[in-house]
Amino acid sequence: MAIVTTSFHSQVYEILRKQILQQKFKMGDQINPKEIAEEHGISVMPVRDALLKLVNQDLVTNKPRIGFFVREFSEIETKNIMELRKMYELNCLTEYFDFINRDELKSIYPKICGAGEITREEFNELDSRLHNTFILASNNEFLINQYNKVRDLFILFQYLDSQRDEETNEEHKKIIESILDGDKQLATDCLKLHLDLVYKSIIDNVRKNRING
Ligand code: NI
Repeated sequence: MAIVTTSFHSQVYEILRKQILQQKFKMGDQINPKEIAEEHGISVMPVRDALLKLVNQDLVTNKPRIGFFVREFSEIETKNIMELRKMYELNCLTEYFDFINRDELKSIYPKICGAGEITREEFNELDSRLHNTFILASNNEFLINQYNKVRDLFILFQYLDSQRDEETNEEHKKIIESILDGDKQLATDCLKLHLDLVYKSIIDNVRKNRING
């Protein structure tokens, strides 16, 4: 029985996580555990467990006696999260430049170039794969685990940076080209510029969401 409950909990967790990341639930939306439980024909307990796990990940907030809400991020919080992301990625790119998986980059590159008809999910998946190569190059399991803990916040923001696909592709191509050319300085500059532009676009969207909401 416990196994079944655990699997309900992790299935509901995955469903809710995806819906939040893909903005099917908008920031600030209330999530009603009872409704979700009824929708999936399960009890409320595993839904609450899944929501508490999402609270732990900073994707959901739990307001006592009011309920669960999709986490909203202020401009300062957005800035701080992007700063953390820059710290991880720029540090790994420069420190472990020689260990970045070139074969992985070569397999991502043509997919970026041919990125006409791909879904938002596939687009973000490629983005994650590219940025992951820098982190994985560290071969440091503590660093990789810490990065993975906050990675969903970066993915959430990727969905907010969705109006600049062509520019993003160009920025990604330049990063890959400079790494494959062995030009560490240029690769660092390109990644820094890319993350600054991502940040700018996310901040614009955070402001817009606030005005519309
Ligand atoms: Ni990117």
